[in-house]
Amino acid sequence: MSLSKMIKVPIDMLDSCDGVVAKEVVAPDGVVMLPMGVDISLFEASISLLIKKMRGYGIEYIYINPPQQLSEDDIEEILQKVYSDDDLLIDKQKARDVVKHVDNVFNNIRAEDDIRPEMLDALTNMGSSLTEDLLRNPSVTLSLGQVKAADEYTFVHSFNVAVLTGYLANKLRPGDEKYLHKMVLGGLMHDLGKAKIPLDILNKPAPLSKDEFAQMRRHPEIGVSLAMKSGVQDRDILGIIGGHHEKWGGKGYPNRRKGKDIPEVARVAAVADVFDALTARRVYKSAMPSRDAVTLILNDAGTHFDPKVARAMLVSLGLYPPGSIVSLSDGRVGVVISGGGKDLVRPVVMLVDPKGKKDAGGVPNFIDLKNEKSLCITSYLGQGDKRELGV
Ligand SMILES: [Fe+2]
Repeated sequence: MSLSKMIKVPIDMLDSCDGVVAKEVVAPDGVVMLPMGVDISLFEASISLLIKKMRGYGIEYIYINPPQQLSEDDIEEILQKVYSDDDLLIDKQKARDVVKHVDNVFNNIRAEDDIRPEMLDALTNMGSSLTEDLLRNPSVTLSLGQVKAADEYTFVHSFNVAVLTGYLANKLRPGDEKYLHKMVLGGLMHDLGKAKIPLDILNKPAPLSKDEFAQMRRHPEIGVSLAMKSGVQDRDILGIIGGHHEKWGGKGYPNRRKGKDIPEVARVAAVADVFDALTARRVYKSAMPSRDAVTLILNDAGTHFDPKVARAMLVSLGLYPPGSIVSLSDGRVGVVISGGGKDLVRPVVMLVDPKGKKDAGGVPNFIDLKNEKSLCITSYLGQGDKRELGV
């Protein structure tokens, strides 16, 4: 694998150009117009304005590192190494257990056409254990795609939403363990009402018809009554189950609630729900890369999503979400392990060589780019498909 060198691009050609800014562009007043390491495509919406400004300052060229490509084999080998590192992920057996328990809850409700309080016991215990993992593990979002099975989407989705909802909750209210715990439980149970939706609709390998969609839209309310019947009384958990399809602009369901009338917990779960749905591979659609899903959610901030929550997601996942493969300015290649907080282009990266070894000695070598100002990301090389656990 060879990484090509930066190129000089006339500013008028920026709108038809892909790549990462190789040299910071600074206005005469010292304001950074284009930070080094930022993907030029992120300025898509404002590129004409930016070009106009740069022209006004007499800037004629900028330097860009063109997009690089790794072969699929290289990507596969790199990710194999990262995802085989148990320390970085939620315990695989635990992830499988969570999915199995969600599966059991749904099947029991279907079999008995009812819910009993003890049906949720195991799930509640798993929620506590997941909460502890979330508090301990900074790279937990790497675990999002850990479990996957095409025909068990609802159960896998519940696991992913629980992890991401909890992760976001921890960013919004750092250290509030009780809040985090409730968010994880709410995430696990958010689609409980789907246990009452006919399987041919639930597992339909294609978009739903109008009638089918109308039935599907009942699942938040059904979920709330099932949860209450099984003894769930917590307002936040019920808020997630009943409100995760409401939209900030008031066009969601079931109650078309708007803005802060939607419980905050539901606004957080809504972001997690859509993020996982976008990045999941289904029978009828391929998986969207995480960074595209982040961009899409940001575009819908203020209409579908609470802008504060969408921003929290951007800050937590960064412009290079965990799992992104990137090259650094010194030529090394790494996989992003966790977001860089407020500095979106400076995440924590685990170095790998192009053949996927963590480093010469096989020991993980992490670089927190926030602390290594002489280094920056020069290219986004891609992102592997979600990992599969084979449940
Ligand atoms: Fe839902």
